[in-house]
Amino acid sequence: MKQIVNLRINGAEHETAVHTHHTLLEVLRAEFKLFGAREGCGIGMCGACTVLLDGKPTSSCLLLAALAEGKEILTIEGLAEHGKLHPIQEAFIHHNAFQCAYCTPGFILSTKSLLEENPAPTAEQIRAYLAGNLCRCGSYVKIQEAVLDAAARVRAHDGNLPTQK
Ligand code: FES
Ligand code: FES
Repeated sequence: MKQIVNLRINGAEHETAVHTHHTLLEVLRAEFKLFGAREGCGIGMCGACTVLLDGKPTSSCLLLAALAEGKEILTIEGLAEHGKLHPIQEAFIHHNAFQCAYCTPGFILSTKSLLEENPAPTAEQIRAYLAGNLCRCGSYVKIQEAVLDAAARVRAHDGNLPTQK
């Protein structure tokens, strides 16, 4: 069975018919060709499918697409602005914080949420917040370095003086 829903994805409204049993991950990839959200475990354990829903990290593999109606959906494809990478993306590249990069969109989006809640997290706070994102390549040390740097970059970008802990 299909249902007409209005999905707001990366700032644009889309009216589309979705199967009521399809997840947001399936719809993002199959319908909208947004392949940044990846399927890893498919059961909410790995974070590869993370998108931001009203700013909060959400496992799109667990959420029915129809239930995302009325929410602000942000995928990794919506993070850069005017062709310029987001400071968090720049930090991940600068620190080579990936190997295969399968996990990277999820880590970056979770980091965005973290830095909105806590603009100057400690390494311990970063590890705790990102515990739901798994990296099979084991790039955790580089990822932590990137997130610390990303925090400074975002503060500078937002016009606040760095207050590195
Ligand atoms: S694929 Fe969704 S949490 Fe692993
Ligand atoms: S870089 Fe390969 S899974 Fe994280």
